[in-house]
Amino acid sequence: MIGVTHIPVLCEEVIQNLVSAEYSLFVDATVGGGGHAHHILERHKDIRLIGLDVDEGALNIAQEVLKGYSERVKLVRGNFKDLKEILNGMGVFSFDGILFDLGLSMYQLMGKRGFSFNDDCLPDMRMDDRAELTAYDVVNTYRYDVLQKIISEYGEEERAHKIARAIVDERKKRPIATSKELADIILKAKRRRGKIHPATKTFQAIRMEVNGETKNLRTGVNDAIDMLNGRGRIGVISFHSLEDRTIKEIFKTSAMVSVITKKPIRPERGEIRNNPSSRSAKLRIAEKN
Ligand SMILES: C[S@@+](CC[C@H](N)C(=O)[O-])C[C@H]1O[C@@H](n2cnc3c(N)ncnc32)[C@H](O)[C@@H]1O
Repeated sequence: MIGVTHIPVLCEEVIQNLVSAEYSLFVDATVGGGGHAHHILERHKDIRLIGLDVDEGALNIAQEVLKGYSERVKLVRGNFKDLKEILNGMGVFSFDGILFDLGLSMYQLMGKRGFSFNDDCLPDMRMDDRAELTAYDVVNTYRYDVLQKIISEYGEEERAHKIARAIVDERKKRPIATSKELADIILKAKRRRGKIHPATKTFQAIRMEVNGETKNLRTGVNDAIDMLNGRGRIGVISFHSLEDRTIKEIFKTSAMVSVITKKPIRPERGEIRNNPSSRSAKLRIAEKN
């Protein structure tokens, strides 16, 4: 999968609003393909960077992309829910800035790991291939009411009940064996086609369940706020409203930070034209008091 390019979203906005020349240590909590990290290191020659990712394949790409900066970069495989433990284990107890760029990288989407509607392979959807739970388990073993709740809450899908019912009915005939099969079941259940693929929200919900994304985000962001140095900044790029609301609420209610972005920063039209997957991105930033 080396060769697949992930275009970093809101990159200039991140550099301008989140990173300062005064910083000495920056943490990229979702280093992915190393896109943001590369620009930060290029723009600020004195900054050191720790890049974290749960996905080993993503880290291999980051390693390649960031090889020119190896004396200033440390890449670590790990989940940002364990941020404190991981950094403390490296002898790091505070840092000056941190970025969380949520969601999937192009490398994951194109990787035939069941994240895409057209994937004719096992619905896997794990970002961390050491984890046990896969999308196959979720769609083939979860009870109707649990499936319905996940699709409704994480996917904010109005037709969650219909989709959950269709999944449960279909799997009675035989297990749902591929992501493409799953997408077709959802398509049939929803009947309606809009601008986005009808299975988008359900796939997102299942992926969030498989990777424990909501819980991980809260833990990671709260620990990051704790570890930030005074006047240091935390930035989160999210791609759907549940995540954005979570970040807005954490920043607003934490006594340790002040909100910098009263309204989230959104990509300009030119960026969306160039990179349509950036269209729903929102960047929120807060500063440690
Ligand atoms: C949108 S991509 C990041 C892209 C990166 N900013 C770039 O410019 O190349 C999101 C990355 O976050 C990683 N990720 C998601 N949840 C994570 C978690 N809880 N801990 C660590 N990494 C995570 C994914 O594996 C993925 O590589």
